[in-house]
Amino acid sequence: MKILHPISITLLYLSLSSASAYQWSTSLLSRINPLIGSAGPEPNLSGGMIPSVAPPFGSTRWVAQNQNSYVSATPFNYTESYMNNGTIHGFMGTRQPAIWMGESAWAAVVPGMSSGSDGDIKTGFEERGMPKIAGTEKFGVGLYSVELAIPESGGSTVQVSMSASSRVGHFQFIFKQGSDSEYQPYIFLPTTRPATIFHNPSTFVTTYPNGTVQISPMTNEICGSNTEMQDFILAPNSIKDAASHFTGWYCATFDVPFNDTGFGVTVGTGDSTMRSELAESGSGEELGAYARFQFPSNDTQDNTRSESTTMTVNVRIATSLISADQARHNLYADTQDDVGSFAIQDTQTVTENAWAEKIGRFQVETDNSSESEDKLAVFLTGVYHAMQYPYEVHETIPSSTNASHYYSAYDNALHEGESYSGYSIWDTYRAEWALLILLAPERIPTMVRSMLQDFEEGGWLPMWKNMIETNIMVGTHADSLLAEAVLKGFGAGSTDGFEETFTTEELTTIWKAAWKDASVPPVDDSSVVYSDREENVDYEVRAGLSTFFEQYAGGQGWVANDIHSESVSRTLDYAYDDHVVAALSTLIPSEIIQNNTPNLSSITSDFYQNKSEIADFNVTTLLTDRSMANPWTVWNADASAPAVATGGDDIKGFVQARQQNGSWAGTTDGFTEGDRWVYSFAFVHDVAELVKQRGGNESFVKSLNEFFDGGWVDFTNEPAHHTPYLYALAGAAAYTQERVREIAQKNYNNTPNGLSGNEDCGQMSAWYVFSAMGFYPVNPVSGVYVVGSPFFSALNVSLPVPPFMPESHPSITSNPYYNPATKSYELCILAPGAENKPYVKSLKINGRVIGDMEEPLISHEEIRFGGLIEFEMSDRVESWGGGKGAWAELTSKLDAQSHSTSYSFHDQSQTNTVSVDHVEL
Ligand SMILES: *[C@@H]1O[C@H](CO)[C@@H](O)[C@H](O)[C@H]1NC(C)=O
Ligand SMILES: *[C@@H]1O[C@H](CO)[C@@H](O)[C@H](O)[C@H]1NC(C)=O
Ligand SMILES: *[C@@H]1O[C@H](CO)[C@@H](O)[C@H](O)[C@H]1NC(C)=O
Ligand SMILES: *[C@@H]1O[C@H](CO)[C@@H](O)[C@H](O)[C@H]1NC(C)=O
Ligand SMILES: *[C@@H]1O[C@H](CO)[C@@H](O)[C@H](O)[C@H]1NC(C)=O
Ligand SMILES: *[C@@H]1O[C@H](CO)[C@@H](O)[C@H](O)[C@H]1NC(C)=O
Ligand SMILES: *[C@@H]1O[C@H](CO)[C@@H](O)[C@H](O)[C@H]1NC(C)=O
Repeated sequence: MKILHPISITLLYLSLSSASAYQWSTSLLSRINPLIGSAGPEPNLSGGMIPSVAPPFGSTRWVAQNQNSYVSATPFNYTESYMNNGTIHGFMGTRQPAIWMGESAWAAVVPGMSSGSDGDIKTGFEERGMPKIAGTEKFGVGLYSVELAIPESGGSTVQVSMSASSRVGHFQFIFKQGSDSEYQPYIFLPTTRPATIFHNPSTFVTTYPNGTVQISPMTNEICGSNTEMQDFILAPNSIKDAASHFTGWYCATFDVPFNDTGFGVTVGTGDSTMRSELAESGSGEELGAYARFQFPSNDTQDNTRSESTTMTVNVRIATSLISADQARHNLYADTQDDVGSFAIQDTQTVTENAWAEKIGRFQVETDNSSESEDKLAVFLTGVYHAMQYPYEVHETIPSSTNASHYYSAYDNALHEGESYSGYSIWDTYRAEWALLILLAPERIPTMVRSMLQDFEEGGWLPMWKNMIETNIMVGTHADSLLAEAVLKGFGAGSTDGFEETFTTEELTTIWKAAWKDASVPPVDDSSVVYSDREENVDYEVRAGLSTFFEQYAGGQGWVANDIHSESVSRTLDYAYDDHVVAALSTLIPSEIIQNNTPNLSSITSDFYQNKSEIADFNVTTLLTDRSMANPWTVWNADASAPAVATGGDDIKGFVQARQQNGSWAGTTDGFTEGDRWVYSFAFVHDVAELVKQRGGNESFVKSLNEFFDGGWVDFTNEPAHHTPYLYALAGAAAYTQERVREIAQKNYNNTPNGLSGNEDCGQMSAWYVFSAMGFYPVNPVSGVYVVGSPFFSALNVSLPVPPFMPESHPSITSNPYYNPATKSYELCILAPGAENKPYVKSLKINGRVIGDMEEPLISHEEIRFGGLIEFEMSDRVESWGGGKGAWAELTSKLDAQSHSTSYSFHDQSQTNTVSVDHVEL
């Protein structure tokens, strides 16, 4: 086959090809900046990210701890004073998935020194603080290192190296004895701590979780458990009992025996610490265990000691949600060197290779300016952030080599299979899931199964799973994740898709779970508010569904503001969810739908009793009708706002909350994490109608401009994420190109403050990663991306071919973009000069020209098996993307504006060499 193949860079790899797994280059790992998003003046203006070490989707992420972790505080908070002269209080294996979520099942390791062979152990968080030695702290994705001064130890220090696999933290401590030889090293394992629990609104309460420790001096091992699960207070009533049994376990092994040098158990902190020297077990609150070590003995001849007396202790500490025995098993099962090597470099190599398998898939050509290099760092760090969630909570079954099992807090039982936690689905359904589908397709089936397991064990799909459901945010957007996965070829048995990944039984469960979301209101739907972080309620799911239900069930189409919180956001989100369940009903074999859609009247809910008119219906039609009709019940066509920034006529038509009796509520009522401005654009499945309601393309575009220029946009929060791409759907693609670049510049940079809002389990970064590639999934279940403005001259990504793809599939046997060396589909995005040229002049995808007047859309089908996207960029506004006719009216305005924007364009005489050649295969 003769075809233009763009990927000379990947051809270099051909010579390295071998039968075994391809070894991805680690060279780009050093471009990741693990500090991005770890600072911020307040929790909601911080990324909430931490510079942790762990592999992709790692179960526990290990981090140097400089503050206690709880809802609104991560274990590491970057500040200038920390960097200049900060203290580290220990090293923590955290499972806190986002800054607004609670910690659970953590473990920690703290080195220290004590006076003599039985001196004090520093147990409390503050007293454990050790100043960093200037210039020694190094952050990497596979290895973190620092040198710490140990206070009150005669000038002793400890050099710390930290690496981690998914369930094992690995430490190397090199203790250096100071001038006073009396001081001897110890390693302390905090096991339970005072836990700060956040009750809405703004009340923090300290609780004291219980735990156990078990020391085995003859096998150099310390294991422990603690019952802390900070978000337990949010557990739905029906699983609370089961979830109350939740326990996290750890098991640590040391490469230096401590049976002769001492060990023990501590209870309490500070002066009131009770220390039981040589105790082998303990239980209780504020509990810890320690092992003591001794420097090699003095030069007894002249009784002087060289400055360099050192000793090295390696510690590996595994975590488990199942048992101490399982944690001990994880020590050896996790690192791929089943002898459990104590060489930290082995763990580092395994973890870096795991990151290379994601990051090394990218090859990016830029103009090499420092600005572009920073953008590349933001981009690669974005991929790194996006590939941390959701995270694994399954563990290897000890009697098997590969099979996994997991502990479920939904039913307090052990199940076979794999499971994930950290699903912030209200955020991640937007673009993070689409990015996972492209970059981690091998995990999509198990991530989907994990959600189905949650449904089977707890009764509902997850909304915000943090070990248990937490009812945080609104809508049942897991429906969207399921529909998008099935739409994009995972498992509906489509002939051009992957090998079938879901059985008929699983597809049935997918349907039952999504249909339940769409049809069954929560417990006491007419009396419980289900407000944000409301405690002691059951699963929130679609609170207000009863009144939302529309004509089929005597509902009215909107969630009543006087019954439920966040009523407008709910109405709009439920309409989108109906749209996705309608889509799902056409993607799943019809026998499954027919046999598993109970008549609404048979659902055991008071609301549906005696509603005979809904007994017979076509589910696709019902949900499509609801999704198209209901959002407009909260559209107040008469509401208006002055066009302060854009001038001229008022902006007309806004969403507004409605009471049960149909009257309008206040204009600020009924929103979650947004206001009437941003929610008036929350119609991703019906943009055409929205444009119409706002008076056609030109006035719609004007309303978007007012939104951006009038100070209404808050890009730190997710409802705004798709808004710059709406211009392109109204014939004004050049505005999309400008806004996307402006947003990228204002909200992302290569510093600890480099995320303007919470990362939210990868969504903030997924926006950047897609935008930098030049397209974004505005409606995730539409199967199309809206074109924006790519940031780099050339970007090639080797998309993974998932292991379940049959070898005989045409995407492998006759696809010019399949690369046998890397076993990948090569997707190449060429945009010469994009660094300095924000506007798109023309676009070709796999040879298909997207003409000036066509809608600027790329379909998932066009790129899922690789492809060639060729942008022609321009430094001035172009007419490309004017498909819906707003263009004529806007040309002059855009032209004028493009010269007054704040972009710092580079000298155009500077030539951009794109080293990606066209070669013939
Ligand atoms: C980090 O610490 C600083 C200084 O105490 C504080 O002002 C800031 O709010 C903290 N940031 C976060 C995200 O917690
Ligand atoms: C940050 O969050 C707090 C608490 O939720 C809220 O009161 C405050 O207004 C938020 N600040 C910003 C800038 O969003
Ligand atoms: C660093 O902080 C410690 C207290 O943690 C203080 O004693 C010391 O003077 C500080 N050093 C510098 C250079 O500021
Ligand atoms: C703490 O755990 C230990 C061991 O399981 C148990 O004996 C003790 O009763 C527990 N204490 C509390 C307060 O629950
Ligand atoms: C401690 O362990 C070492 C190595 O296993 C052994 O040689 C030694 O006898 C043990 N000491 C005691 C006091 O049991
Ligand atoms: C080293 O020598 C000093 C002085 O004799 C003594 O106090 C100390 O205990 C010795 N340390 C060790 C580890 O033997
Ligand atoms: C439901 O309606 C759609 C659209 O009209 C149609 O294609 C589909 O076959 C219908 N489904 C059933 C089960 O009748």
